[in-house]
Amino acid sequence: MTFTCLEKVSLVVLGAIGLRILLRVSKLAWKKLIGPSLGFGLDLRTQGRWAVITGSTGGIGKAFAECFARKGLDVMLISRCLEKLESDAAEIRQKYGVEVRVLDVDLTEGQVVFSKIAKATEDLEIAVVVNNAGASYDFPDLFTNVSEECLARILQLNVAAVTGVARVLLPQMYKRKKGVLLNISSALATIPSPYLTVYAASKAYIVKLSCDLVAEAEPNGVTVQCIIPGPVATVMSKIKKSTWMAPKADKFVEHTVKSIGLEVCTTGYLPHFLLTSIVHILRCICEKGTVWLICKTMSNIRGRALRKQSRQLKEDMLKEEAPRIIE
Ligand SMILES: NC(=O)c1ccc[n+]([C@@H]2O[C@H](COP(=O)([O-])OP(=O)(O)OC[C@H]3O[C@@H](n4cnc5c(N)ncnc54)[C@H](OP(=O)(O)O)[C@@H]3O)[C@@H](O)[C@H]2O)c1
Repeated sequence: MTFTCLEKVSLVVLGAIGLRILLRVSKLAWKKLIGPSLGFGLDLRTQGRWAVITGSTGGIGKAFAECFARKGLDVMLISRCLEKLESDAAEIRQKYGVEVRVLDVDLTEGQVVFSKIAKATEDLEIAVVVNNAGASYDFPDLFTNVSEECLARILQLNVAAVTGVARVLLPQMYKRKKGVLLNISSALATIPSPYLTVYAASKAYIVKLSCDLVAEAEPNGVTVQCIIPGPVATVMSKIKKSTWMAPKADKFVEHTVKSIGLEVCTTGYLPHFLLTSIVHILRCICEKGTVWLICKTMSNIRGRALRKQSRQLKEDMLKEEAPRIIE
């Protein structure tokens, strides 16, 4: 069988495209499935003794603390409420027999707090820092409806505190040429997010910061990774019943920890990767339609939240008025 010149060129081009697709699929399968399930992620115990977690008294942060303690790392818990911190610390000590330290700070208070964190951790050999504490809206809403205080809190916690904590803790990891910095962003940073604009934009900042830090940290022996979770059943998301797509925090963290060191930016949990991929595919087919669909979903969630709020308000007013009527 002989081929014309054009046929030969077409075959070479098709072969090259096929090879490229095969390479990409294998790389994806390695990062998302094979690497994590065969335990090729980074062993944190080789990086140091301590895990430092911000926002560690609830949801994803608490699950990270428990997961690291189970692996034998000592943990430092950072949140605002001392009472919660101390009871979590006692529980972790008792369950896993590791050393636990606590630091009660409000991360929205800026520079003073970052210095406190630097001081409290200066003698620790840090294996991993989880920049987890974050704030969001009470419910999806229009940019112009969200209070200035709420926007300021989101920016202080999701942008300034994430930057400040990384800035004070990276130098000691660079010095030891070991350690991992995990920055918790959100899948909303990578897909259209009307009605959650400032939250999503603040999380996009974390993606950009992390991706650019990777190249600076790598020559210093430090791994920087950005986690972009989809929905997780926690107080912040207000998801009460966990599902396959919105797992409990401990399940989400168990999957995510296996991906440490394998990818610069990852959802950490395969169903969340599928969710964001579907949105990206829909956007390729019809950008406007996808944005319309997301707007509609967000506006429905907002409607439900507003109705719940007004029901609650009425109930509270009735409760207040009842004793007066009896009198
Ligand atoms: N849940 C989700 O569906 C989801 C999805 C994507 C991304 N994320 C991200 O994952 C991270 C954790 O979310 P989560 O759902 O686990 O939240 P969560 O259940 O509300 O827990 C937040 C934690 O942060 C602490 N915190 C809040 N404000 C703080 C402040 N000003 N200073 C210090 N600590 C503070 C809270 O403790 P105190 O109140 O005691 O301070 C708590 O321990 C966030 O960055 C969030 O944006 C969550």
